[in-house]
Amino acid sequence: MADMVRISSFVDSYIKDDKGLLKDIYYKAISDGVPVIRKASREFLKTQLLIKKPESILEIGAAVGYSSLFMSQYISVNSHITTIELDEKRAAEAEDNIKKLKKEKVIKVIKGDALEVISKLPDASYDFLFVDVAKGQYINYYEDVIRIAKPGAVIISDNILQDGQILESHYTVEKRNRTIHDRMREYLYKITHDERVETSILSVADGMAVTIKK
Ligand SMILES: C[S@@+](CC[C@H](N)C(=O)[O-])C[C@H]1O[C@@H](n2cnc3c(N)ncnc32)[C@H](O)[C@@H]1O
Repeated sequence: MADMVRISSFVDSYIKDDKGLLKDIYYKAISDGVPVIRKASREFLKTQLLIKKPESILEIGAAVGYSSLFMSQYISVNSHITTIELDEKRAAEAEDNIKKLKKEKVIKVIKGDALEVISKLPDASYDFLFVDVAKGQYINYYEDVIRIAKPGAVIISDNILQDGQILESHYTVEKRNRTIHDRMREYLYKITHDERVETSILSVADGMAVTIKK
């Protein structure tokens, strides 16, 4: 069996680059060290959006707006995206990037702590949610995510495999990463055992979970 790195680079070799300004935004983010969605993950998001055809999308973790701008290419004219970012500089850059691509009417950036922001969002208001925030926090958002998701909503959680570290036992993980590791394991258990949802865990890129609210 070929190793995962070779499999990933093989898969990535089939993925087309973005065009124009979006491509520039992606490569600038990479060169600035901003954590943006991996290529195979964004392709997976694309097909999920095309299948689900959501009207209202919530992203937790905007960074500089790349994934929101990417998603905006695959939603219908009446759909909209709300994205949340804690880091003020990144949120401002996300707004600039959204303006550059003339997507202000489609994508709204909320600056603030996602935990606080989502606790104030109305029940059953989103039909597609993309969770791409600090990995140790996914479990903290879960109850609110379920509350604000419409029945039938698709919830995608990114980077759930933590570059393979999730496989290791608690004691073999470096001490400083143990809390994140344990919380992600707790999250994976929750989304696969909660009766209110159905979940598939996929090894796309750094791992993605697709959860459907019943
Ligand atoms: C992996 S990046 C998001 C990448 C983005 N989705 C993309 O692919 O273009 C995660 C982002 O979450 C932000 N973040 C971390 N904790 C947060 C919180 N409590 N509330 C809102 N944003 C947070 C970080 O500042 C970071 O920019």
